[in-house]
This record gives sequence, C-alpha cells and structure tokens, in this order.
Amino acid sequence: MNVRITGTGSALPGKILTNAELERLVDTSDEWITTRTGIKERRIAAEGEYTSTFAAEAGRRALEMAGVKPEEIDLIILSTVTPDFPFPSTACIVQDILGATNATAFDLSAACSGFIFGMSVAEKYLRSGAARKILIIGSEVLSRIVDWQDRNTCVLFGDGAGAVVLEASEGAHSLLSTHTFSNGSYWNLLYQPGSGSRNPATDSHTIDERKLYVTMEGNDVFKHAVRAMEEAAVKALDANGLSPSDISLLIPHQANRRIIDATAKRLGVDSERLFTNLQHYGNTSSASIPIALDEVNRQGLLKPGNKLLMVAFGGGFAYGSALVNW
Ligand code: UT7
Repeated sequence: MNVRITGTGSALPGKILTNAELERLVDTSDEWITTRTGIKERRIAAEGEYTSTFAAEAGRRALEMAGVKPEEIDLIILSTVTPDFPFPSTACIVQDILGATNATAFDLSAACSGFIFGMSVAEKYLRSGAARKILIIGSEVLSRIVDWQDRNTCVLFGDGAGAVVLEASEGAHSLLSTHTFSNGSYWNLLYQPGSGSRNPATDSHTIDERKLYVTMEGNDVFKHAVRAMEEAAVKALDANGLSPSDISLLIPHQANRRIIDATAKRLGVDSERLFTNLQHYGNTSSASIPIALDEVNRQGLLKPGNKLLMVAFGGGFAYGSALVNW
C-alpha cells in the first residue's frame, strides 16, 4: 500500500509586517534581523482571523487540488501551538467549517515539528487501512503569543497555515518514510510558560509576570537545531538507501536562514536544492513546511521521481523528517 500526497494548500494573512515597521516597535534593525535570521517580513492575522480561519482555507485548497470532497475525508490532524481554544480541538472547528462530516478530527502538539509528526501519524493510519483519505494541517497565529516588547523573539515569528491531503493509493509516487524524535530534557529552552495547568491564565501572576508569551534560549536552541535536523535527515536517507546527492529538494523548517544553511552544508546539499521562503513569512512553526511544500508544488518545482526531503525541529525538543518520491 502506497501513501501519496494528492493535494497541497496554504493560506496566509493579508497584513505584512516588515523589518522597518519592527524598528519602530522594539530596539532592532532591518540589518540585524536580515543578517541574523534571513527574515525580511512576516504575515500577521487581523482581528477576527484565527488559527481555524487559515487552517480551513489551507485545507479547502488542498482538498480542491486533490479533487476530494470534504465528506470523503476520514481523518483531520491539525498541528498547532496556538489553537483557537485550549479545548475543543481546532481540528473539530475546521471539520465544522469544511463540512467534513465523516472525519475524526484531533489536534497534535509537537511545536514546529507538528506537521512532520502529523504526516507520521497519518502514514500509520493509511498503511494499516484505518483510513483512506487524510487532511493534515499545520496552522499558527503566533502573533497572539509573541511578546511585542521582546526583541529576542518578536522579530522571528509569523502567522499562516499549510495543508496536505494524504491518500492510500497504488502507483509510484509515494511517501517513502517518516521519522520522529523527542528529547524532553530540553523542554524549557523554548516554551510558553503560561496558560496551561502550571501557570493558569486565570492566575493574575501569569499576566503580571508576562508568562503568556513565548520564551526561548535562542543560542542553545540554534545549536541543537542544526545537529537534530542533520540527524533526522540522515535517518531518512539511511532508511531508504539514499545519499544526499539523490535528494532533488530539501525543505527544512523555516526558523533561521543560518540554521538552514548550516544543516544543508553538513548534509552536503547545495543551495540550488534548498527551498526557503522565511524571508517572506518568518518562522510559522508547524505551518512552515506545508506552506513551503504548497509553494514548491504550485510552482512545479518537483518532477515525477524527484526525491523530496522535509526536515523539522522545534520545542520539546521534537524533530523529524519525511522523505517523498514525487
Ligand atoms: O522554531 C524552532 C526553534 N527556533 C529556532 O530554531 C530559533 C533558534 N535561534 C535563533 O534563530 C537565533 O539564536 C536568534 C535569531 C534567536 C538569535 O541569534 P543569535 O545570533 O543567536 O543572537 P544572540 O541571541 O546571541 O544575541 C546576540 C545579540 C545580543 O546582544 P548582546 O548581548 O551581544 O549585546 C542580543 O541582545 O543580539 C541582540 N539581539 C538583538 N539585537 C537587535 C537579540 N535580538 C535582537 C534584535 N535586534 N531583534
């Protein structure tokens, strides 16, 4: 039984926030942000736009491309760190918006690696015969949990969503493998301290001590990110008897241009085979890889038989890879 990507979609807020505009918010510069991260601008959700808004639109576009009706979907897996509500799952809200009446729907929490983890879960459902058509979505409105007074973090993130339809099928085009990893000993290097059971949003200290915002030890995370993405990529190549020269395109999680370049260099993947769009969107966490994949797909950058490697790293730490024969 093969597992095939039959549709991709993405949705982004219309509002663009440039580095020049950030210079007016915090003590930063376009020069610092560009050289340290590669980011030039990011998209920011408007009032009345939520994680489910972008998730549903990205999902709708992926379904349209796949030629799959919402009611044919067996399962919706939505990865996010910024759900509409702590409960119910944003996936259930998206199910309602799309009219995917026959789907089971749930959210998945694996931070920036959530989309790859979602692909991995979906792969198991499909290969076991438990589902035939699955919608996987990564959607984030990070602008609502970013501290707009903290220059260390607020320049990095953006909002948006990406989605794929994964189907059980015959034929050559196939998801070859997924690999997922977790290293919980570093959970406190990148997290949102408040709003859960440790520092409830209902406690005034949570707000007074600014615990509702993303906090990150950027430098430490950087070093782990490069090592972990290399490890996840090598695992994918080894499992399929491939070498880096076999890879047609590498889509890494879009967190920092320097992390991406260092990972590609360690793997021996040259810049022509590396896809980046973080200059436009910043780090959109679990949405970053599916947004990039949709752009790659709609631009026709992949031909049948091309090997596509996707690799992610983020809070948890959670990291992983997915390898596709296009
Ligand atoms: O999504 C998955 C996980 N996330 C990541 O993978 C992100 C990983 N980390 C990073 O991308 C980088 O560590 C950052 C972009 C966050 C920071 O870059 P860095 O080269 O590691 O800088 P740094 O944290 O070592 O800071 C260097 C200096 C500091 O000043 P001092 O202490 O040297 O005087 C910072 O205060 O840069 C300062 N700085 C800024 N300056 C201007 C930090 N943020 C800014 C800013 N504008 N926005």
